[in-house]
Amino acid sequence: MIARLRELRYTLIGQTRLLGGMCLQLAEDTFGIKIPATRFFLHSYSYFFRDTGDFEDALVRRYAEVKRELQVLCVGCARGQEPYTIAILCDKLGIPVSVTAVDRSPQAVGIAREGVYDLDRERSNARNSRGEAPVERIDAHLRWFEPAPGGHRIIAPIRARVKFEVMDAGDLPFDGDRDLVFARNMLYYLPPAKLEDVVRRLKRALCPGLGVESIITDPITKRKGLVR
Ligand SMILES: C[S@@+](CC[C@H](N)C(=O)[O-])C[C@H]1O[C@@H](n2cnc3c(N)ncnc32)[C@H](O)[C@@H]1O
Repeated sequence: MIARLRELRYTLIGQTRLLGGMCLQLAEDTFGIKIPATRFFLHSYSYFFRDTGDFEDALVRRYAEVKRELQVLCVGCARGQEPYTIAILCDKLGIPVSVTAVDRSPQAVGIAREGVYDLDRERSNARNSRGEAPVERIDAHLRWFEPAPGGHRIIAPIRARVKFEVMDAGDLPFDGDRDLVFARNMLYYLPPAKLEDVVRRLKRALCPGLGVESIITDPITKRKGLVR
C-alpha cells in the first residue's frame, strides 16, 4: 500500500512538478480519489514575516477606516507562521485584531496551535526564500516569542488573537464579516472547478463593500490572475 502510494506520488511529482503531499492533494481534488495517507505526505511550508510588504499597508488602511477590531481570515495557514505574523504586526502597530486561520492539514494545524518554533529553522527558511529578507525581521521581533521546550513559543496574548481550525478551503462558511482575507501560496494548487468555488467563498467572506483588493494573495496567484 505504502509502496503504491509512493509510486503515485512520484508519478504526480514528475508530471506536475509539485512537491510532496501537494501531489496527493491534487489527486484528491482533481480525481476525487480520497487517499487516507495524504496527510502523512503534506509539507506545509511557510516562515515568519513572509512578504509582509504585500499586506502591512492593507491592515493599516482598513483599521483607519473602521477603527474597531479587525476580523481577518487566513486560508492555507500551514503551521501558523502567517497568522501569527499578522497578529504580531498588528500588536506592534496598535491594531486590535482577531484572526481565524484554517488549513486542511491536521498536522500543520496541530503545530500551529502549539505555537512553538525552532527559530534557527525559521531563519534558515527565511534566508532561502526568494521574497523580502525577513531574517532580520525575525530577530527584530523576538519579544513576541518566549523560550519553551522544543524552541520558542509565541507569547500568550498573541496566541489568544488567533483561532485555528482544520478546514478545507472548499468548505469555508464565512459570510460578510471579514476585513481582510489571506489566501497566499495555495490557490495555484487547486484545480479550476475547485478554484472557482474557493474564490467565490473568499469573496463572500468579506464585509459588504469590500472587493478583491481585500484578498491578499502572492505573486504567482497575481501573475496567473486567479482572483478576479
Ligand atoms: C505553501 S503553504 C502556504 C502557507 C502560507 N499561506 C504562506 O504563504 O506562507 C500552503 C498551505 O495551504 C494548504 N492548503 C492547500 N490546499 C488547501 C485547501 N484546499 N484548503 C485548505 N488548505 C489548503 C496546505 O495544507 C499548506 O499548508
